[in-house]
Amino acid sequence: MTDSQSTSPSLENLLHETRAFPPSPEFAAQANAQPSMYDEAAADRVEFWARQARELVTWKTPFTETLDWSGAPVARWFADGTLNAAYNAVDRHVEAGLGDRVAIHFEGEPGDTRTVTYADLQREVSRAANALAALGVESGDRVVIYLPMLVESVVAMLACARLGAAHSVVFGGFSADALRSRISDAGAKLVITADGGYRRGAPSALKPAVDEALAPKDGAEATTVEHVLVVRRTRQDVAWTEGRDVWWHDAVEAADTFHEPAWVDAEHPLFILYTSGTTGKPKGILHTTGGYLTQTAFTHKNVFDLKAESDVYWCTADIGWVTGHSYIVYGPLLNGATQVIYEGTPDTPHRGRWWEIVQKYGVSIFYTAPTAIRACMKWGEEIPAEFDLSSLRVLGSVGEPINPEAWMWYRRVIGSDRTPIVDTWWQTETGAIMISPLPGVTAAKPGSAQVPLPGIAATVVDDEANPVPDGGGGYLVLAEPWPSMLRGIWGDLQRFKDTYWSRFPGVYFAGDGAKKDDDGDIWLLGRVDDVMNVSGHRLSTTEIESALVSNELVAEAAVVGAADDVSGQAVVAFVILRGGHADEASTDEGSARIEKTLRDHVAKEIGPIAKPKRILVVAELPKTRSGKIMRRLLRDVAENREVGDATTLADSSVMGLIQAGLSGSS
Ligand code: WTA
Repeated sequence: MTDSQSTSPSLENLLHETRAFPPSPEFAAQANAQPSMYDEAAADRVEFWARQARELVTWKTPFTETLDWSGAPVARWFADGTLNAAYNAVDRHVEAGLGDRVAIHFEGEPGDTRTVTYADLQREVSRAANALAALGVESGDRVVIYLPMLVESVVAMLACARLGAAHSVVFGGFSADALRSRISDAGAKLVITADGGYRRGAPSALKPAVDEALAPKDGAEATTVEHVLVVRRTRQDVAWTEGRDVWWHDAVEAADTFHEPAWVDAEHPLFILYTSGTTGKPKGILHTTGGYLTQTAFTHKNVFDLKAESDVYWCTADIGWVTGHSYIVYGPLLNGATQVIYEGTPDTPHRGRWWEIVQKYGVSIFYTAPTAIRACMKWGEEIPAEFDLSSLRVLGSVGEPINPEAWMWYRRVIGSDRTPIVDTWWQTETGAIMISPLPGVTAAKPGSAQVPLPGIAATVVDDEANPVPDGGGGYLVLAEPWPSMLRGIWGDLQRFKDTYWSRFPGVYFAGDGAKKDDDGDIWLLGRVDDVMNVSGHRLSTTEIESALVSNELVAEAAVVGAADDVSGQAVVAFVILRGGHADEASTDEGSARIEKTLRDHVAKEIGPIAKPKRILVVAELPKTRSGKIMRRLLRDVAENREVGDATTLADSSVMGLIQAGLSGSS
């Protein structure tokens, strides 16, 4: 294990968990997933995926070759086939006579609603594609989408896909600076945004961040952006750049409702999604079309047991994250599902809002993150008890290891002790779910993602890349290519190879620690690198450290993820102040002021999600003789534990100094 490996106490508890919940015979009898799928995939993994690709995706030109791994680690799946993602998500359902089926029940935070059928969606996406084309967007271009959770967000993504332009969605919580670097790395031609969205009961502006991101900046190249398309949601005032800015409703309403999709090769880029890595610069994860659609459709259908004609599905993620891409946009729409999209926060205007929505729409499949479940646990079970949740039949979890207590609460309070829970492990890079129980097949264990899906070769290896025996622990790796795997980091093939393929040659290293229990089931233990997981969002310690040291107050900074009851991990920063500022921190008032300045600074540089929960001013940081910061020791301090083995420190008195300094202030 590396120096930064952390196994928090609640994860230790995971390893003593012995409860299991076998599927009910009734559920098993009607389940999409069947035990035989594992055998089929084991017999011929590649042919198994070819079969899924033929069954679940509609091809313009059928593929004849399945996997080409000769250019490893860049895979090519179904490469000689052609298709279109938006056609698969929308048009083919209308052609099959399902135009009247509801695709989206939209629920705005203020309570406004909108019902969108597949026929409506086809018209909207076609018009938007025509509008984008009129603004000069062509196949192969990149479009940045910076929107709240609206129907238009889905339409915008599909309009790009329809044209063969790659979308790059940037989460609305990211700052202007973060947006600017993503726009520039992707070389985007167009940005789609909104005046704002509703958040916690009030309009929250978005367009100013786009204006700032695109403003000329000393020393920086002009951006490639030609136009900004603006959705009107909150009607708040916006600054307007004539010639550049265009209202979405003007452009889209004027456009024709017919649009012929661009038929693209299976390996044509579908999207780029930026995610945090171990260095400061975010990675543009590249996904292509055919393999991605195949695996998102397959997993959505089988892991959630989707029955498109009767289920109402709801994934609470934001489209700014990969979960929103794969399990709000592509997976569900490819399968012709009816789903709920909710704009706002779970506690606006009251803490029962989510359960009220489940009751209102009769949601039957619900997919959320452990951090949300823990927040609901904290608010109390009497809140969900006020609502009728009997429509629920499958519950899912994603984003971080789910602690068994939260899993049990989820099943008992939300699932009436009856629903299967699928704990789904995957990543932005994997594109789709990789490890998960199958409902109706797997006897679920609280806290474990358990089994690689059929056709997926996930295993746990030790430091020397040897598979660990049952009962052993080590690193999670993926030993064989899979259809929805990333095809690289945008513009940086070498970084792709170094990041994922160099630790264990020939296999994909996910960056997660894992254990196998005595039954061979996989338990995920969190990141083993310098990536934190805060409320299911990936944040890089290095990126936040860079943000902190870019402030004039800070000489040096070290950031750790400390265990947190609700968010899983919380960002805790240790900073050494420059010269004169150290004195300022000696009064309560001064240190509060410094803390606020630095938190605001991080919010501006990266986004509010990256704001440190605590900032501790210290005189020294613990370093090894080679100058590497020992975050493990700082994490001990942040989690109020006895500090572990500090013998490799260059200066062994440092930890004593840090603790003496802090005991005075906290
Ligand atoms: C973590 C989110 C344990 C893991 C889809 C992974 C999980 C990172 C689980 C990817 C799970 C996600 N159990 N850990 N069920 N799901 N993770 O790219 O550390 O935002 O590497 O993708 O989240 O985060 P990302």
